[in-house]
Amino acid sequence: MARVFSGIQPTGDVHLGNLLGALVHWVRAQHEHESVYCVVDLHALTVPHDAEELRRSTSRLARLLVAVGLDPDVCTLFVQSHVHEHAEGAWLMECTASYGEMKRMVQFKEKSEKADFVSTALFTYPALQAADILLYDTDEVPVGEDQRQHVELARDVALRFNHHYGDTFVVPRAVVPPAGARVMDLQQPTSKMSKSADAAAGTILVLDDPAAITRKVKRAVTDTDGEVRYDVAAKPGVSNLLSILAACTGRTPEEAARDYTQYGPLKADTAEAVVELLRPIQQRYHELEDDPDAMVEILAKGAAKAQAVSSSVLDRAKRNIGLLAR
Ligand code: TYM
Repeated sequence: MARVFSGIQPTGDVHLGNLLGALVHWVRAQHEHESVYCVVDLHALTVPHDAEELRRSTSRLARLLVAVGLDPDVCTLFVQSHVHEHAEGAWLMECTASYGEMKRMVQFKEKSEKADFVSTALFTYPALQAADILLYDTDEVPVGEDQRQHVELARDVALRFNHHYGDTFVVPRAVVPPAGARVMDLQQPTSKMSKSADAAAGTILVLDDPAAITRKVKRAVTDTDGEVRYDVAAKPGVSNLLSILAACTGRTPEEAARDYTQYGPLKADTAEAVVELLRPIQQRYHELEDDPDAMVEILAKGAAKAQAVSSSVLDRAKRNIGLLAR
């Protein structure tokens, strides 16, 4: 059976892009493959953060992942820092990836341009991500389009490591969904929907109430030609709404476009589809809030399961790269 691994950062709140680009596919994959999912708190340390807030968002995110439908009895769900093999594996990856490869990472360029403080770890971040993936003998990595380059790097590092030190790592591949892989900001439909606080009106959060969702969708930027057609280059706003509606209802954006001649009904149906998709998730999230001990137990079991796999892969890598056994 193929093994699936993916991760999500506990920075800011989970938005519709995370859900449609990644999380709904994680939920499906857990029933089809052996699946391992991780709240990547070590990755969140790469940017300035508040310590107490990070702890809170890590717990909130784990709860949300269960609310979305990850079943801890079916998949492995854990917090990255609970399994020290990730940090150790990242060093082996840094020693195998080249400086030039790291410099080509688009996400580093985007994040470092905007930042006042750029940590060394923000630059080496993809090495930690490669460790996350390779430590589980991962075949498939379900991610949104923006993470494709990082998964490609993990693939290149695995191939290089295997070439130099003998067969060690399974070579992974990114699996990017056909619809929802790049959900765009509702106010700036040429930028991806993101967690940054300045994008509040353009970002639908998974925990937004129905009124807020409807307001955001109704105010979404479209264009003036009035025709409903899926054409990302010429009509980014309308195409984004069609992609969202399609991803929520299991169609292609072109199919969704056929049902509409005007923007008003398209917006109304998109808002309704999002509200209906999020309703059961929100309800389950609030139920889980009442039982914090259950989450602690879920994460402890998840970490033990994750460590059983990653420690043996790490041992294999350490041996092959030439480290003396203790
Ligand atoms: P992160 O936390 O930014 O995002 C989590 C997942 O959501 C997807 N995503 C989107 N999909 C569609 N449209 C959007 N607007 C959108 N925004 C985000 C992302 O592609 C991702 O799948 N570096 C990773 C976390 C990570 C990871 C890993 C992923 C760490 N280790 C190992 C896979 C495997 C990140 O920052 O994702």
